[in-house]
Amino acid sequence: MIPGLWPGIFLTGSACHAAFLYLAAVMSKEIVVSGIRSTGYLHLGNYFGAMRNYVRMQDDFNCYFFVADYHALTTHPDPKLLRENVYRVVAENVACGLDPEKVALYAQSDIPEIPELYLMLNMLAYKGELEKVPTFKDKVRSQPDNVNAGLLTYPVLMTADILIHKGVKVPVGKDQEQHVEMARNFANRFNSRYGETFPEPYPFNYSDQLIKIPSLDGAGKMSKSENVNATIYLADDDDLIRKKVMKAKTDAGPTEHNSEMPDYIQNIFQLMNLVSSPETTETFKAAYNGCTIRYGDMKKQLAEDMVNFVRPIREKSMALQQNPSQIAKILKEGAEKARESSSKTIADARKKIGINYY
Ligand code: TRP
Repeated sequence: MIPGLWPGIFLTGSACHAAFLYLAAVMSKEIVVSGIRSTGYLHLGNYFGAMRNYVRMQDDFNCYFFVADYHALTTHPDPKLLRENVYRVVAENVACGLDPEKVALYAQSDIPEIPELYLMLNMLAYKGELEKVPTFKDKVRSQPDNVNAGLLTYPVLMTADILIHKGVKVPVGKDQEQHVEMARNFANRFNSRYGETFPEPYPFNYSDQLIKIPSLDGAGKMSKSENVNATIYLADDDDLIRKKVMKAKTDAGPTEHNSEMPDYIQNIFQLMNLVSSPETTETFKAAYNGCTIRYGDMKKQLAEDMVNFVRPIREKSMALQQNPSQIAKILKEGAEKARESSSKTIADARKKIGINYY
């Protein structure tokens, strides 16, 4: 909206001034976009890798967060389960502290401007470069019977998700960094062909080091679909969390003072760092260095701290899921906010391309 035409001009004196300051603040905030796939249950890795960042960003930036339900279609999910999955992802994000008043929280499929921009960008995306993307090559290997065009153009759809709001900061995990780099390339390609339209998006993280949340069996990281028994999901109940933590891999303990930790023990300490108090972690570290550590006690402590960490999130999320009309309202209002921004962008892109007939 052009500031000069804003209805604020009808206000007078200090009201006008305050309203103008608010508008200026919203307009000057950098734009953040990120998507969450609607397949699988969210786990601690998602929480510490993504959701915690979203929650921190919501006060400082103009945020668009969405459930990537179109992206999920690449694996042909059961239509009967789609809504439930989308609702759960929304509920879990709100339960983690995302405030739908502060951010636009919406479903990708509610924004028709996204597939429209995706179509435009597909004309600038080449088969060769798309086939080279490591995540695509992984899928070709893991699901050779379903190498569909949507899978090939997955990074193009992701680009449309970001550029539709002219997003510049994209909070993503390490595995998505290359997709954001492609989004940057496609933005530049559009700009050089049709004129300056999109800013360059970059991956964003608060710390230099992207944290990887280890799975409890000492093999790899927590995952939406693999290592189910070694992954703590935000929907797990107290006893399940205890059971999983108690099964974490340990050994007979160190025999020499200050010896190096095997990675599966490091993992347990890393998880403790995230959910326990610093004093607790320090106590066990000292016990490790002094060879008096009892892993059974350590895991019991970690299990209780983990239970206390996950419980309020799970309870809030369950309560929300029992109130689907509230989730529907969040999605509707989120879509309204997102369409305000995306309709402007698509009008601009159409004009730049020359789709401007009457
Ligand atoms: N591909 C992302 C993932 O698998 C999800 C996603 C879709 C996304 N569109 C996006 C992330 C746009 C950031 C920006 O996690």
